[in-house]
This record gives sequence, structure tokens and C-alpha cells, in this order.
Amino acid sequence: MIHLNEVLFLFLAGIIITIFRLSSYKPQPFFSSKPFLNNFNLNFFNLDFFNLNFFNNTSTTQASSHLKHTNTQKIQDINTLADCHEIASRLSELIRKDGAGSWPPNTNHLSTTWPASLRPYKEIYTEMAPLLPAAHASLDDNINHQIISSFRSRFRQLLSEKVNLDEVTSLLSAAASGRWDVFPRDTYNAFYSCLAWCRHAYRWASIPVVSLAQREDALPLPRELVVPWNKMQAHFQLASDSGNNMSNLVLNFNNSGEYQYKINTGLSQKIVSSEGEFTKIFYEVETLAVPIYHAMVRSIVAFARENKKECLRYVREVNDKLRPLLGAYYESVHESKIKRDVWLSRVQGFYAWGMTGEERDVESQELIRFDGLSGNQVLLFQALDAYLGMEPYLTREVMDRNVPGLQRGFVDSLGRFCFRGLLKDGCGEDGEIKGEMLEIVKRMRVFRSAHRTRAKVYLSVPAPERMPMTAGKSLLKDDSVGGIDFLDQFMVKRLQQTV
Ligand code: HEM
Repeated sequence: MIHLNEVLFLFLAGIIITIFRLSSYKPQPFFSSKPFLNNFNLNFFNLDFFNLNFFNNTSTTQASSHLKHTNTQKIQDINTLADCHEIASRLSELIRKDGAGSWPPNTNHLSTTWPASLRPYKEIYTEMAPLLPAAHASLDDNINHQIISSFRSRFRQLLSEKVNLDEVTSLLSAAASGRWDVFPRDTYNAFYSCLAWCRHAYRWASIPVVSLAQREDALPLPRELVVPWNKMQAHFQLASDSGNNMSNLVLNFNNSGEYQYKINTGLSQKIVSSEGEFTKIFYEVETLAVPIYHAMVRSIVAFARENKKECLRYVREVNDKLRPLLGAYYESVHESKIKRDVWLSRVQGFYAWGMTGEERDVESQELIRFDGLSGNQVLLFQALDAYLGMEPYLTREVMDRNVPGLQRGFVDSLGRFCFRGLLKDGCGEDGEIKGEMLEIVKRMRVFRSAHRTRAKVYLSVPAPERMPMTAGKSLLKDDSVGGIDFLDQFMVKRLQQTV
């Protein structure tokens, strides 16, 4: 039981700490609105009190154009370093190729400018999207069978009537042979996202996802959704049948940050905005990550040149820039933005996959079951872990399925050039760099414990129409409590490894 005097003590302590922080706070040029956020102890203070969303508030336009401008400068700097150090050349290549020259990647979602053979996919999206969500999920298998069959049948009909697969294939072959003039990379990115939407929509055929669809172990997809997908997956060096964080989330935004291929078209504002807020986080994270990637690269180059002073400056910058990025997560993954009673049924299910394809495991010869998307595929977190010298969270196999080859290359290089273990103890520059890296670790620990708490809240909402499932780990144990405990183990383990 907490006594009144304890409450008063905590309250006063909060005020004193706030005054102290504010008095020692140095203004920062851009993300200065709540710069003291990172210094609070999460256990005592509710982070959701702060508004850290740069993309939504009054200064949005100014802030985002400033951010774009800064990011452009950072990218230019990375490009100039590309001939000096492997780490820079890896990142530069990733941005130039998969990013179509920018990060988050450039996308051209204006389908009227697409090559003619691709436009039908966008038209089909436009026709099928309103048919995907059901106002109420049925618990009756027979009714769901009808809904799913009719959705898939209309989808197949449209694909066979509208798509000229030969033309699509030759366009993709042209891109594979380097003819980016006929299939520009920003269009390639946008089409990849459109195709991923089509595949996930066909796979689930009704949102909320229902247990009848979950029980499908394998599903032959129409050739119009298989042939181009396989070619694009080969291009990104990905082995999964399922979409991934890039195809379904990051590339699902145009260059102005507008969300494109939606799950809950025509439903209530509450559902539509919860979906929008959730997807937006992944685009925001990659936007806010650019200065961090840049500072990581710069610090590695400085370390290689034995310029410890500069190295320290850039490690500090990684730490500084991580604060607003995590703030964007803390602010969005919250009831005020993403409604708990909506997320699991209306948003999460679409990103799952949970089916076997044609590929067999080399050793066991069993058909491989592919999982869907998870935040664990986000580049920033993998990059940070590698930079800090931690083992990857995902296995090599899962990385090869869901994280594009050029991103894997960049993360591998960050791990290889990690200098944390080479720093000497003591109070010189080495010691300072070490201390700064430890601050980054602490920040990641705070994120991981907050994420653990929030994930459990969102995952424990009842969804009677389906079996327990996450998008990233497919079907879970029979009861949802057992399922959440199973997931919790991953998060606890990662928290323990964050040292
Ligand atoms: C309500 C929303 C979310 C829920 C319920 C959730 C749930 C989970 C769960 C259960 C795991 C562990 C299993 C796995 O690896 O898939 C996980 C891992 C992870 N999630 Fe989320 N997640 C959510 C949103 C996000 C967001 C928005 C991000 C970041 C932008 C994120 C980043 C991560 C990362 C990086 C991991 C890997 C483990 C780690 O690094 O700590 N998640 N999430």
C-alpha cells in the first residue's frame, strides 16, 4: 500500500529532478521540444505524457522538411566516404540501390507513371481493398469459408483478366539485368509493396484474420502473385513467401510520408487511425535513423583513423539521436494512438503468414513454414546491436528470409568493425567513448523493458475469432497466456543480453 507521504515524496522528487534537468539542458537545434525525456526513470514517470511526434504536430511541415534536408546532407557525406572505408561503402550501396538514392527508400506510388503492365495491380488493390475488412468477425467456419472463397475468387478473376504476366515478367527480367531505365528503382520499391499487400490480402482474405484461414497449412497463390514475387525476392536476396518490414511497412509510404496500401479501408476512424499510427512508426524509425547510421559510420571511420576525439563526438551523436527516435516509439505504441481493442484483430493479423511454401529444409527435408513480419526485422535495432558488439537477435536463417541482403551486409560490417572491445579502460578518450556506449546500452535496455510491457498489453486482448498468433512467430501455443509467456522469453532474453 502506498502512503500519501510517499506519493508526495515521489511528486516532489519529480519536480526537483525536472528543474535540475532543465537547468542543465542545452538547447538542440531541431529535436529540442522534449530533450530531457531520456533522463527520466521509466518506472516513476509516464513517458506518454510527452508529445514527441514530429510528423503530426503544428511544426510538422517545417520539422519534416528540416529533417529531410539534414538527412540528405548525411547521405551525401556517407557517399563521399564510400571510397575511404568499407562501412561507408556498404551503407552507401544500400541507400543507392535499395533506397533508390534516399533513406527511407524513395518510392514512386503514382501508378499512372508506372510501366503499363504493372498498373493493373494497383487497380486490383483499389477494387479489392474495400472487400477485405469485415465490420464484424464471424465465429462460424461456414460463413467464413464463404467470405474467404468469394474474396479469393474475385481476386483471381481480376488478376487473370487484367494482368499480362509475360509483360510483367519481361519487365522484371529487364530490371534484373540492370535496366533500371525501364523500371526505375523507386517504382520497383512501390510495386514490391503493392504486390506484398496483394499476397497478404489473398492469404487472409478477410480481416480480422479467422481461425479457418490460420488452419490452412499451404495455399496455392495465383501465378500473377507468385512469379513477380519470386523475382523480386531474388533481387532483394530474400527467401520468404511472406512480406517483410520493408515490403509491407517502410516501402508502403510515398516520399511525402503518406501511407498507401491499407488493411481497413472504409472502417471506423478509430480502426483506420490505429492502423495508420502503427504502420507510420516503422517509416518514422527509418527516417530518424539516418543521422544515427551516419554517426555510426563516422565514428567507425574516425576510430580507424585513430582520431578518438572525433570518434567520441560521433558516438555521442548516436546516443543523442537515439533519444527522439525511441521517443517516437514510446509516443505511438500507446492507447492514445493505437487502440488496444483494435490492434490485434484489425492490424496485426494481416502481417502474419504462417504457411509452408514449396521450399524444403536442406537437412530435415520438411517443408519450410514461413512467419510474417515483426519489429525484430527493423534495420535500426539490428544495426545498433551490431554496433554495440552484441550477437544478432535473429538467426541467420530468419535474417536470410526477411532482411534484405544489402541490409544484412551493412549490419555484418557494423559487427566486424565494432570497436567497443578494443577500447582501453580508464579516464582518457577511450574511457569516455566506453561510457558513451554504455549510455546507448542503457537506453536500449529502457526501450526493451518498455517494449516488453507494451507488447504484452497489446497481445493479451481477446480475439475469439482466431487462435493465438503473432505476425512474427506465427501460431502460438493453444492458450493465449501460454503464447504470451513463450514470446516473453524472447524479450527477457534479449534484455539480459543488452549489456
Ligand atoms: C503493439 C505493437 C507491438 C507488439 C505487440 C510487439 C511484440 C513483439 C514481440 C512479442 C516480440 C518478440 C518476438 C519476436 O521477435 O517477434 C517483439 C520483438 C521485437 N520488436 Fe516488437 N512489437 C510491437 C511493436 C514494435 C515496434 C513498433 C517496434 C519498433 C519500431 C518493435 C521492435 C521490436 C524489436 C526490435 C524486437 C526484437 C527484440 C528486441 O530487439 O528487443 N516492435 N515484438
